[in-house]
Amino acid sequence: MIKADICELLNIQYPIVQGGMAWVADASLASAVSNAGGLGIIAGANAPVEHVREQIRKAKTLTDKPFGVNIMLLSPNADELARVVCEEGVKVVTTGAGNPGKYVEMWKSNGIKVIPVVPSVALAKRMERCGADAVIAEGCESGGHVGKLTTMALVPQVVDAVNIPVIAAGGIGDGRGIAAAFMLGARGVQVGTRFLVAKECTIHQTYKDIVIKAKDIDTMVTGRATGHPVQVIKNKLAKKFEALEKENAPTEAYDELGRGALAKAVVEGNPDEGSFMAGQIAGMISKEQSCEEIIKEMFDKYDELIAKFN
Ligand SMILES: Cc1cc2nc3c(=O)[nH]c(=O)nc-3n(C[C@H](O)[C@H](O)[C@H](O)COP(=O)(O)O)c2cc1C
Repeated sequence: MIKADICELLNIQYPIVQGGMAWVADASLASAVSNAGGLGIIAGANAPVEHVREQIRKAKTLTDKPFGVNIMLLSPNADELARVVCEEGVKVVTTGAGNPGKYVEMWKSNGIKVIPVVPSVALAKRMERCGADAVIAEGCESGGHVGKLTTMALVPQVVDAVNIPVIAAGGIGDGRGIAAAFMLGARGVQVGTRFLVAKECTIHQTYKDIVIKAKDIDTMVTGRATGHPVQVIKNKLAKKFEALEKENAPTEAYDELGRGALAKAVVEGNPDEGSFMAGQIAGMISKEQSCEEIIKEMFDKYDELIAKFN
């Protein structure tokens, strides 16, 4: 079995973090991942602060293992959420879409491990200077908001640039992906898309079926023109976003089209109007499994590969 310092840092068995996924990563998924030996994450996204507090309390009833909360820095609630994680004694915070610098001191003084997601070497270095415990280098193969660089290009450059542990994210769907990430110098992995189809993931069955049916080329990136590109499974809504880009439409038109679209996918399972965020490895996913089965299968394959390699 893999021995990684990230396991010691986070007090977990396997060096795997479940990606914070807006509207998706609730207490059910996060606690199941933590119970299976990884680090489960509850997504704060732009949910009402009391809802997130409720999810944190619920997760505590479902697991006695550590879990974390992801704070989307673009969220209008980010300041309040940053305080809630301190009040609720959360052990780990991951952050998305920006620079969490102004919260780091408060989190550290509350004993919280801070792990920002970074799309570039520059932000990784800044986060190390701010006192981050590790960084998640996320390549643009991932589902959800994406940066410019691929995991293959980004991870080794971030590894070379910082002295804190680097967790690789984006396009890691099985044990081969974990082995590759470790070869690039990562000390752990963050996985989102594969956990979309976990049995404990409470999204609409249609969302899971769409991910399971997806082929290698079925995702696309929408909204590059807005500065906030997002990787989704192609459908009517994604095509409408593409049309807006061709028309050079104003940002308001994207906002209007995207309003409520993630809820339409996650809650309603509306195949045409929902935003089915998922990464490029969706094509590798063929069935629903429990979090325990997913994690065990991934690390069994990793062990097999490393034994062969040795
Ligand atoms: C449906 C979905 C929603 C996501 N929402 C967030 C989010 O709210 N905050 C964040 O930091 N990352 C978010 N991500 C990115 C994941 O946390 C994770 O880094 C990514 O999924 C890893 O790549 P993979 O999809 O190839 O496994 C999201 C990803 C997906 C698929």
